Amino acid sequence: MPQLAIETSCDDTCAAVLDGPVVLSNVISSQADHERYGGVVPEVASRHHLDLVVPVVEAALAGAETGMDDLDSVAVTAGPGLIGALLVGLSTAKAIAAPRRIPLIPTDHLHGHVAANFLEPDPLEPPFLCLIASGGHTMLAGVRDHAGFEVLGETLDDAAGEAIDKAARMLGLGFPGGPGLERLAATGDPGAFTFPVAMSRDPGLDFSFSGLKTALVYIGRDLGEEGVAERAADLAAGFQAAIVNQLVTKLGRALDDGDWPAVALGGGVAANGPLREAVATLCRERGIPFKEVSRELCTDNAAMIGSAARFTRALPYPEYVGFDAFATGPRGSR
Ligand code: KG4
Ligand code: ZN
Repeated sequence: MPQLAIETSCDDTCAAVLDGPVVLSNVISSQADHERYGGVVPEVASRHHLDLVVPVVEAALAGAETGMDDLDSVAVTAGPGLIGALLVGLSTAKAIAAPRRIPLIPTDHLHGHVAANFLEPDPLEPPFLCLIASGGHTMLAGVRDHAGFEVLGETLDDAAGEAIDKAARMLGLGFPGGPGLERLAATGDPGAFTFPVAMSRDPGLDFSFSGLKTALVYIGRDLGEEGVAERAADLAAGFQAAIVNQLVTKLGRALDDGDWPAVALGGGVAANGPLREAVATLCRERGIPFKEVSRELCTDNAAMIGSAARFTRALPYPEYVGFDAFATGPRGSR
């Protein structure tokens, strides 16, 4: 029997229908409205989710040629994320599940990014090391079973995607900045400017991206507005290389520290071509298989939530009626 999954933790309204690990449909509606603010405005995001969630769920059901009465459960992101945005998805999920007396499965968003790797075709079996880099999070997850993961290291300040979006904004690119920055960087010289290699002397597995952002601000100040416009491609290339460098250095260090038989990626930044190439090279050098999940399953989507839900406790009706969303998750293991 099919399962519906809903994800509304940030600015993408997502619904998917799955049959176990097989994705029958995966619909993502991104909100264009945030571009003019250069970032996600939580209240605007919540209101858009309200407009979009029903048509997106209907599109997912139609894509899977199934109806609401055929569902055997509803999975939904319970957190972490923007609380108003999460509540739209959670309320929708309850409104679909409760009248049908079917179970609801409240799911962790970051577990979802890991669990994208469990989907067909070619599911990855734990144990493996997963680098999650998105607009809200950057962490190294030690995945020993399907049900959760251990946080081995995480960012001490900005997330990688957050830094990328801010840099893209400075360079006059749209929001979210990752795809535009990647395109521009492809035409620039990554060695033209020197960016600090953050945390390079830190022996741990944590990350830091705020210094990179400050470095870009100072370089921009020296160049002036015209200079920045002229050298935008070189700045994008240097900035992107510094982000990739830090992510891959820490990934390599985590491989030195642990006995991980495979590597996987998750989160929107994992859609980045140069990052994928650098991780592929690292894994080739170490003789470790690298599971390259599709770009569509790296950025926020509901199929990954359905995948995580398979390994999360389902709440029977009516246990979930009063269940609440959470904005920030616990530190450590999930
Ligand atoms: O996982 P995601 O879709 O949403 C969050 O949970 O945050 O990640 C969004 C982030 C944004 O910061 C976006 O700029 C970044 O992923 N991103 C990329 C690329 N595509 C999306 N960053 C670098 N290169 C890309 N191609
Ligand atoms: Zn995400």
